[in-house]
Amino acid sequence: MGKIILTGDRPTGRLHVGHYVGSLKRRVELQNSGEYNEIFIMIADAQALTDNADNPEKVRQNIIEVALDYLACGLDPEKSTLFIQSQIPELCELSFYYMNLVTVSRLQRNPTVKSEIQMRNFEASIPVGFFTYPISQAADITAFQATTVPVGEDQMPMLEQTREIVHKFNTVYGETLTMPDILLPDNKACLRLPGTDGKAKMSKSLGNCIYLSDTEAEVKKKIMSMFTDPNHLRVEDPGQVEGNPVFIYLDAFCREQHFAKYLPDYQNLSELKAHYTRGGLGDVKVKKFLNAVLQEELEPIRQRRKEWEKRIPEVYRILEEGSKKAEKVAAETLAAVKRSMKINYFEDKELIAQQAKRFGEEA
Ligand code: TRP
Repeated sequence: MGKIILTGDRPTGRLHVGHYVGSLKRRVELQNSGEYNEIFIMIADAQALTDNADNPEKVRQNIIEVALDYLACGLDPEKSTLFIQSQIPELCELSFYYMNLVTVSRLQRNPTVKSEIQMRNFEASIPVGFFTYPISQAADITAFQATTVPVGEDQMPMLEQTREIVHKFNTVYGETLTMPDILLPDNKACLRLPGTDGKAKMSKSLGNCIYLSDTEAEVKKKIMSMFTDPNHLRVEDPGQVEGNPVFIYLDAFCREQHFAKYLPDYQNLSELKAHYTRGGLGDVKVKKFLNAVLQEELEPIRQRRKEWEKRIPEVYRILEEGSKKAEKVAAETLAAVKRSMKINYFEDKELIAQQAKRFGEEA
């Protein structure tokens, strides 16, 4: 079996630099490391529908956006299987059986579900599908016997829930499912990149995201108007780097060689931070540096995206092929699950013989 990766994203918008440092960049590195036997990258449209049931068109439109972002970042369909969740009916079947292993109160305690319920004002009317999506996510992960799930920190409760389901299933029905491990970004700034307005979460509705597909001019404009330390009014004023989004972005993106190239007055980020803290370093200078660093990272992504945008039918073909391959794997897991649960009646010759014998003896 070896090492297997499964991860994915909801197609509710284009992917942004938070997705990139939180997970996408890592996925490409893992893909190219050659250490994994299989890599499955899923566009979680069915999960997106759990809180967008009335807006399927939004989900439909964003499937191709996310696929383009994947390819632009360097996910390679020759090495990674890119697929669409809703095209794998086995996932629903697995979820249906896992539902028996999870209590309502356990789902209510899931911190991600809790905060999402609040964010969406679902308190009084939570869609059942939304409420149970952690179970469906466990199906996503286990269907591919994933050993490794590279995701952002916000997905930690989902992984915990999945691990509990795996443990319960294996305890009740016998060793069947693979216990997955979460793989978090190793750079702390990458765990959760704040919005350009300094708010903790990047979100489309807040308009505080830098998208991978933004043009050079858009990125520059967003960076130059980024929130910084509100008390750092004049250049001479001492500034604060903690919680300052410009510096958090630099923590996430800049490397020592960027200084030699774009800001040779400083050796490294600690020197830059020290100067800012002391006073005498203006926001504009730091922002210009961040812009140079970020543009260098995003430019090849933009170029690759442009190329793929000319080949849209091929992108859909890649997703179709990937979905077919993914379904085969999920079907194998489902068969194993049904065997363990003893609901594989017609392939169980022993069962049929046994029953024949029982009724034969009674006759
Ligand atoms: N919940 C993830 C997100 O919001 C998407 C997702 C669905 C996922 N199923 C998954 C991620 C399985 C990792 C593993 O982006």
